[in-house]
Amino acid sequence: MDTREKIIIFDTTLRDGEQSPGASLNIYEKLEIARQLAKLNVDVIEAGFPISSPAQFEAVQRIADESTKIIAALARAKESDIKAAYQALRNAKAPRIHTFSSTSDIHILGKFGDSKYGLTLEDKRKTILAMSYDAVAYAKTLTPDVEFSAEDAGRTPIDYLAAIIETAISAGATTVNIPDTTGYTHPSEFGALIAELKRRVSNINNAVISVHCHNDLGLAVANSLFAIENGARQVEVTINGIGERAGNASLEEIAMSLRVRKDRMNCYTEINCPEIYNTSRMVSGFTGIVVQPNKAIVGENAFAHESGIHQDGMLKNRETYEIMTPETVGVQKTKIVLGRHSGRHGLKDRLIELGYQPSEKELEHLYDSFVQLADKKKEVFDDDLRMLMGDEFHKKEEYFELTYIHVHSGTDSIPTATVCIKNQDTLYKESSTGDGPVDACFNAIERALNLKPVVESYQVRSVTSGRQAMGEAILRIRSGEISFTGRGISTDIIEASAKAYIQAINQFHLYHHTELILTDDKIEIKAI
Ligand code: KIV
Ligand code: ZN
Repeated sequence: MDTREKIIIFDTTLRDGEQSPGASLNIYEKLEIARQLAKLNVDVIEAGFPISSPAQFEAVQRIADESTKIIAALARAKESDIKAAYQALRNAKAPRIHTFSSTSDIHILGKFGDSKYGLTLEDKRKTILAMSYDAVAYAKTLTPDVEFSAEDAGRTPIDYLAAIIETAISAGATTVNIPDTTGYTHPSEFGALIAELKRRVSNINNAVISVHCHNDLGLAVANSLFAIENGARQVEVTINGIGERAGNASLEEIAMSLRVRKDRMNCYTEINCPEIYNTSRMVSGFTGIVVQPNKAIVGENAFAHESGIHQDGMLKNRETYEIMTPETVGVQKTKIVLGRHSGRHGLKDRLIELGYQPSEKELEHLYDSFVQLADKKKEVFDDDLRMLMGDEFHKKEEYFELTYIHVHSGTDSIPTATVCIKNQDTLYKESSTGDGPVDACFNAIERALNLKPVVESYQVRSVTSGRQAMGEAILRIRSGEISFTGRGISTDIIEASAKAYIQAINQFHLYHHTELILTDDKIEIKAI
């Protein structure tokens, strides 16, 4: 008889993962990732934080409308947040409201209330306890599946942590999450914390214990595994370990650790491991966050054997240097290459094999872009297709579209750029000079649109292989407190840069021209 216990995989790529510096996913990319997460067979998809912006609200709503998975939405312990989460989840087959409060002294003192009112730490703790109870109880009136998180639990004194977890369960929480928000704890310490909560919290058996570990000391996966050994039955993870600062525990590392070392860990996940690689590449392609080559499980070198001794060993017996095969996680040895003679069918089949689900209309556009690319490059690789998919999704949110670019630069000449940008029926055309071709191009765009945002960061890199590789430009602009990221790809890096700039401006436009209207019984996204 199999006595192993199931570990619930709660994927937060679309919420905490999207909080990674520089990552910004549009609604189409989020939907595509959510579909791929369903194929990967995660148990819960945390789709976003609906109150935080109209775009977040809409993304959660669209994912909830179509997915059959448990869809979680984040909400602070406030009625307005919980209402927004519930509205976004209204059509979900299995909705989960995930509400949280800060619990460590450092968070409570730093974030909660104003010291001028003379509230002591003890007063504030009591208020947070009551707010958490009310938040869970209110969420429970809307959906039976409620998760409560004690933010910065890793640095919260055990007495208070046990009290707040007990309170949340008594209010109806079905999952209690213990986040190591700052990635501060060590594995044995974090494991002991979970064991101690099991001992102290009298109603702990009425809820699933979850953990959510950040990777500031590189210990997120180790901490999650120790927590599992001590009784946690849900882990909150992201694809490629992306997330705030140094990221979250990586889904693929935990799933494969539990699988490869099932002799030690008496538990299992229901992750469909051969979908790991496609999911990793999709998330990296859409977010623009590169997977380091030596990253466990999904890095370029994870299954590469360089030294002669290793290669010799591998030829004699794979198990000498390989604890799992690349095929287990979906890494294919032969890369299928498409070229200009490949038809629509070939393109569609390959995209589906890579995990995408393009509609017929998307496929039409993609085919045009594919043919243009195949004309420039002889061979179109899987990574080129992944980049084309990202580009296709960005086009759907285009308010301004780059329709023409001409750049002149060279030794002893003044770099000059001319751009033409379209918005519905209006064309904006301008030229400008600059310090270099990219600067000239940015100046021309700013003149054409009469805007001058602060460019916070700008990077260009090659994203596919060979000298005809596609170049990707990632650029961040700032408006007040908020940054907007744009990405552009092309075999021409100046064009990629111009597209990235215009896309960041489009994000800025989208943000400033929609708002969430909260009324008692409904929430609307309104164009302003
Ligand atoms: O890191 C954290 O504490 C979080 C919570 C909102 C779960 O992301
Ligand atoms: Zn987090």
